[in-house]
Amino acid sequence: MGTCPVPGDKSLAHRSALFAALAEGESRISNYPDSGVTRAMRGALASLGVPSSLDGDVLCVRGNGFRPFPNVGAVAFCGNSATTIRLLAGTVAGTGSTAVLDGSEGLRKRPMGRIADPLRQMGVPVETTNGCAPMRLAPAQGGLKPVDYELPVASAQVLSCLQIAALGAKGVSHFKVPGPVRDHTTRMLASMGADVEDADGVSTVHPLVRPLAPLQAVLPGDISSAAFLLAAASIVPGSVVTVPGIGVNPTRTGILDVLTAMGCTVDVANPREEMGEPVADVTLTAAPLKAVEIGGDLVVRTIDEFPAVAAVAAFASGTTIVRDARELRYKESDRIAAIVTQLRALGATVNEFDDGFAVQGGTLKGGTAQANGDHRLAMSMALCGLRAPVRVDGAEILAESFPSFVVSLEALRK
Ligand code: S3P
Repeated sequence: MGTCPVPGDKSLAHRSALFAALAEGESRISNYPDSGVTRAMRGALASLGVPSSLDGDVLCVRGNGFRPFPNVGAVAFCGNSATTIRLLAGTVAGTGSTAVLDGSEGLRKRPMGRIADPLRQMGVPVETTNGCAPMRLAPAQGGLKPVDYELPVASAQVLSCLQIAALGAKGVSHFKVPGPVRDHTTRMLASMGADVEDADGVSTVHPLVRPLAPLQAVLPGDISSAAFLLAAASIVPGSVVTVPGIGVNPTRTGILDVLTAMGCTVDVANPREEMGEPVADVTLTAAPLKAVEIGGDLVVRTIDEFPAVAAVAAFASGTTIVRDARELRYKESDRIAAIVTQLRALGATVNEFDDGFAVQGGTLKGGTAQANGDHRLAMSMALCGLRAPVRVDGAEILAESFPSFVVSLEALRK
């Protein structure tokens, strides 16, 4: 019960730090979240020669401009952050830099062919390690070629990588995307003076003709973190929880639609705009939960929130079915397998599909679950503990994205 703010949005934090590094002049970004994944981006940029400082929650970056990174051939370690490595790869390509991009054991298992293939079509020499990190990128001989490219997966990381690279190409590029992926890169680059536009599922990117303007911005709260508090409220009968000032970009609000379909009342109040992004205060009022079927475009708009959805589904009446979600197998863990295995460890009746899962509500009994090195799985299993005795091993991984999660949850319980 109550009001609980969440840290700044990670997707926007990554982009703002990176684009600030590519701007001319000094950027100041407030409400910047300090967590494992945001440190990964800042650390990688520092290795490439663009350090930043965090003063309270204000990130200060002196931009290097859209030109090769100062530390030629540096190894940039991207930790567990796939957004960092994929967006940096596009940046190294676009600026004609030479670098090696690497990361944790977990990150080394994530597929990089999805960015390496189109970057090669643009003329960039990219060496991967069996399609994964570490990968080495060098400048395209004779300059970067523009492309017309259709993405095989609806991935904002892939699109963003290519959009950033295309800023340094010798002509106009077009990227066709098979789904409503988050459009933060388009919005932020356009606000900094780049000629980037999305229309009818195609993103058009013109080469930069003027320097990117530095950012003076306040990051909205992270709807992907808020999702776990709203899901918690939906699980505990009688709850009313408000998360103020979160980003409600329509490419990210699938979780609000899912919780509404499951019977909760979700109120989106005080709509406003920050950095060209819609922001609002979101209140969830709990109600008896009912199962839901999720598929199609709603999957893309909910892509990071399925661990939260799975926990809510465990307490709904009926069987919740998620399909069209094969991409979940390529996240911080194979999230389909992990959700199924861990809910079963807690006694729930769950089915696994190649592209999703089904959770039979009311069957979860409790027990010990493993976080599997996945911050969102750790939080999902903790949510199950709101209505059953649950222990989560490896839960400290949640500091990758939401270090204050436990404190926030405790505060709401009072
Ligand atoms: C992100 C895009 C999504 C999401 C990730 C953050 C981004 O990944 O799962 O947590 O900031 O662009 P994909 O683009 O691989 O779907």
